[in-house]
Amino acid sequence: MRIGARPIVRLTDRTENAAKHADTYTLYPRFTSGGSGDKSISVKSTTRSLRALKGVRPIVCLTAYDAITARIAEDGGADLILVGDSVGNTVLGMPDTVGVTLDMMIHHAAAVARAKPEALIVGDLPFGLAHDSFPKLLNYCRRFLQEGGVKAVKIEGGASLALAIARLVDAGIPVMGHVGMLPQRVNSAGYRRRGLTPEDQQKVLIDAQAIAAAGAFALVVECVDEAFMPQITAAVKCPTIGIGSGRGCDGQILVIHDLLGLTPYPPPFARPEANLHRDAVAAIKRWATKVRAKKTK
Ligand code: KIV
Repeated sequence: MRIGARPIVRLTDRTENAAKHADTYTLYPRFTSGGSGDKSISVKSTTRSLRALKGVRPIVCLTAYDAITARIAEDGGADLILVGDSVGNTVLGMPDTVGVTLDMMIHHAAAVARAKPEALIVGDLPFGLAHDSFPKLLNYCRRFLQEGGVKAVKIEGGASLALAIARLVDAGIPVMGHVGMLPQRVNSAGYRRRGLTPEDQQKVLIDAQAIAAAGAFALVVECVDEAFMPQITAAVKCPTIGIGSGRGCDGQILVIHDLLGLTPYPPPFARPEANLHRDAVAAIKRWATKVRAKKTK
């Protein structure tokens, strides 16, 4: 039986069928045999496939801001690529994410989309825009999908945005939520770890449940007390993607520049797996020495 050109496959057949239909296969999650966490077959990630990974295997998410970082994230096996507004601090030399605009985000998202990753591309809605009127918000998201090539948007904020998110989802805009510490609110709340008191835990939990109930396909939970994190993961049906929130999440996200050792002062929870800044400086010094000695041929 077929719907359009897409074959329907039974779950038990999925390894075999994923291999057969590797180019069009979108019905099931990126399948990893034995749940080792390595991708054995690369298939396109979708919001549905990522949702289905909750309780199956941890979801790997990374930021990217251009075609090069998108390719690196994709080749490294990311399931989801976030074009984060962290582009402000990591790439554009800004002190925080507040100065990032939708036009900047679309410019970077389009570069990521040109790398054609199989990971799901999500675009971060910049500061303030989610609180605009619904027709304007819908138009920002429409531009992100149509001009930026993203497949979903991420929106920072809690229960007060649940209605707007439900309307976006209803309009065909997949939304990833973002609760806990909200970097876009640096000027009003600072960079403060969340969930350290029972009262604050209650607030974070209400936000997480409201956004999940509004139809978010996944939820970033940033800098929440790690002892409390499992409670959030258990309370929502969609996957929780942690950053600085410990292991009790359904997946993890990191800023790629922090992971690769390109950021001068990465946050304490980000443990770099490489030191590309040091390696790049050393490479340039070697080449500069050759140039000065006229030995580049
Ligand atoms: O902008 C960003 O990079 C983010 C994450 C790291 C979650 O929001």
